[in-house]
Amino acid sequence: MTIGLLKEELPERRVALLPEGVNQTAGASILPKEGVFESAGFLIKIQPPDIKELGMMKEGQVFMAAFNPMVNIGLVNELCSKNITSFSLDILPRTTRAQAMDILSSMATVAGYKAVLTAANNLPKFFPMFMTAAGTVTPAKVLILGAGVAGLQAIATSRKLGAVVEVFDVRAAVKEEVTGLGGKFIDVEGATDDKAAGGYAVEQNEEFKKRQAQAIHDHAIKSDAVICTAQIPGKKAPLLLRKETVEAMKPGAVVIDLAASSGGNCELTKDNETVIHGQIKIIGNSAFASDMPSDASKMFGKNVVNFLKLMFNNKGEFNLNWEDDLIKGSCVTHNKEIVSERVNSVTK
Ligand code: NAI
Repeated sequence: MTIGLLKEELPERRVALLPEGVNQTAGASILPKEGVFESAGFLIKIQPPDIKELGMMKEGQVFMAAFNPMVNIGLVNELCSKNITSFSLDILPRTTRAQAMDILSSMATVAGYKAVLTAANNLPKFFPMFMTAAGTVTPAKVLILGAGVAGLQAIATSRKLGAVVEVFDVRAAVKEEVTGLGGKFIDVEGATDDKAAGGYAVEQNEEFKKRQAQAIHDHAIKSDAVICTAQIPGKKAPLLLRKETVEAMKPGAVVIDLAASSGGNCELTKDNETVIHGQIKIIGNSAFASDMPSDASKMFGKNVVNFLKLMFNNKGEFNLNWEDDLIKGSCVTHNKEIVSERVNSVTK
């Protein structure tokens, strides 16, 4: 089967496979997009297909991307009616075996790093402490909301740049990792930490939300940068940084909101925009990975190659094993049906 690697459209600057990944298949030739749709049985992209690309897809083709199928239901229905076997890497089950294919983790690593650099670049002060002949410069204070993959990378990067780091998360399990990276974990009592959620956060009760809002307020107003990374899978991001808190922050402080595309953790966030509120800058960006396309593509491509290895046997023959939880868990449409339990749970 021929694999067709599709070029992305700007503003997406990553590609799903770099030449080093292509080398692990059987080499490649470069064709116009129409030619790729015509000759390939298996199409790979990062972003969802646009209308033109959907129009070029042929019955029976396999399509793989990260197309947020729980939200893009219209697209899922299109793929279904065109009889495309589709896989969305962003719904791959997050088990230990899946780690080498986990694009959410790879891209969150890039985003957490880039968020801190963006904060440092926008601050009117240094991150590290300096003792110079011209006086002592105090280190920047960074508050990180959410210590998942992006948050942990943000802690590590902020610490490497010499900032003092404080962290909030509702999952108690993460406290040790936070302190291990040199961050200070801020405890707020009474968080709902549901073991049944498989290591992920769940929505919190009103009582906790009030206590957390106060604690975040108290720490945010003393911070130079707030990095927002808190998300709840399949839900709107929790609102953690209120307008009143932003208004009480230090002049020149910066908020970087990685949860912007799912509503944002900050009340003033606008996705893909920089909002200037008084003297505070709020940068809403959930696509930082695309701003570092070289290594982001390298990581994405490695995840893709590892996933392809589950689908092709040693002779290079396409062979889907429906008993494999990773194949089953990431397949969205097959034989004109929506086969993903997670997608069906939101559509039915
Ligand atoms: P995410 O992007 O869904 O959420 C980011 C963080 O926000 C989480 O740590 C979450 O607890 C926190 N959060 C949610 N609501 C909050 C609130 N109201 N206040 C403060 N913090 C809040 O999570 P991500 O980064 O995708 O993964 C989270 C965890 O899942 C990882 O730390 C890891 O334990 C596990 N995981 C397992 C993988 C595997 O085994 N393949 C791969 C990736 C993650």
